[in-house]
Order: sequence, then C-alpha cells, then structure tokens
Amino acid sequence: MRSIHQGAGKVHHPATGTSCVIIVISLMVSPPHLKILITRDEIAETVDRLAREIQRDYQGKEPLLIGILKGSFVFMADLIRRLDLPLELDFVRFSTYGGCRESSGKPRIADGVKMPMKGKDVLVVEDIVDTGISTSFLLEYLKRKRPASLKLCALTDKPSRRRVTVPIDYRGFTVPNKFIVGYGLDCDQKFRNLPHIYTLED
Ligand code: IMP
Ligand code: MG
Repeated sequence: MRSIHQGAGKVHHPATGTSCVIIVISLMVSPPHLKILITRDEIAETVDRLAREIQRDYQGKEPLLIGILKGSFVFMADLIRRLDLPLELDFVRFSTYGGCRESSGKPRIADGVKMPMKGKDVLVVEDIVDTGISTSFLLEYLKRKRPASLKLCALTDKPSRRRVTVPIDYRGFTVPNKFIVGYGLDCDQKFRNLPHIYTLED
C-alpha cells in the first residue's frame, strides 16, 4: 500500500515583495505486508450491533465488563461508549512469551481482577478467540469468583484454530486462519494503533 500526496502553495516574502510557488510531493508508505481484512466502518457497524445485543440482554443490570489486556483495549473503549448501562470495568493481563505467532503455551494470569465479582453479571471482552486456550482458562478462573452470570463477547473468532471449546455469547466477526493485526491486535506489540483490521501476509 503506497499513496502519493501532492500539494502546491504560493509563499510571499514580505521583505523583498517577491513570491514563489512551492510544490510538495510526499510519499506515504504504509507498513508492508498488511492487507485490509475488515475496514474501520465495518468494525464500527459491528461494534454497534454488539452493543445493541448487550444492551438488550443486560437491561436493569449493572454488568462488570472485564477486558483482556492488551488486545481488547481499543474494542473495549469503543464498546462501552455505545452502552447506555450503568456498568463497571476491569482488566486482566496474561503473561506472554514467544514471537507474535507462537502460542504462549500454558496461560498464566499476571494481573488479575481487582474488583469484587461475587454476585456480579460479568461480561468478558476479548479481541480474538484463537485456540481458545487462554479464554477458557480465564473463564474457569472467573467462575471460581462466583459471579451471578458469566458471558463472553469476542470481536473476532478464528474457529479453524480452536483446540478448546469456548462458548461465545456475542461474536463480532469470524476470521480466516490468518494472523490479524490492527484495532488493538498486535504482532510483537506493533500495529495496535491501526484503524482497520489487517491480515499479516508472508
Ligand atoms: P488463544 O489461542 O485463543 O488462547 O489466544 C491467545 C491470544 O493470542 C489472544 O488473546 C490474542 O492476544 C493472541 N492472538 C491469537 N491470534 C491472534 C491474531 O491473529 N492476531 C493477534 N493476536 C492473536
Ligand atoms: Mg497479543
């Protein structure tokens, strides 16, 4: 992806009274090997839909939304601003190692839930359910804290890679068996700031 931007402007020099025309040509080079899979508009529509579903199901309740860091923070920020509910928020962080496409093996929670969960309606907010290993581990960890209800909202679902069954209550997109980045999702901590979701091509 490569785009060329051109611009022209007239500059006047007050001391000499002369003026000249400046032509600017800038070459904008996007990160290589990225192909748009889901545009920002499609993401926005889907976040709207998910918010409507959640709002309908949690009427009269005060859900506690739990995001998985770091990948879900962009999705979480957009989702909660579309929810007209008196909600609470917390985050959980897993410790990870290995390269971006390597599984981090046995999941370990590095930073757990700080808010009391007993009797709460808990909704886990995930960026992606891939093998399902970390999400199912997290759901088991949260169940032990005795919430009144426990549901899962995943922006993306990659079912072709699933190794553990995970019940997804609110699903944004089903994605192909490709590594995706953008809108919070990373590869080696990069690309989280991109507005669309891209596949990382070899
Ligand atoms: P799991 O394999 O379902 O346990 O996924 C573990 C974590 O790996 C997810 O929460 C993501 O942070 C990360 N992950 C899995 N697949 C992708 C991907 O395609 N792009 C970016 N991160 C991914
Ligand atoms: Mg990640």
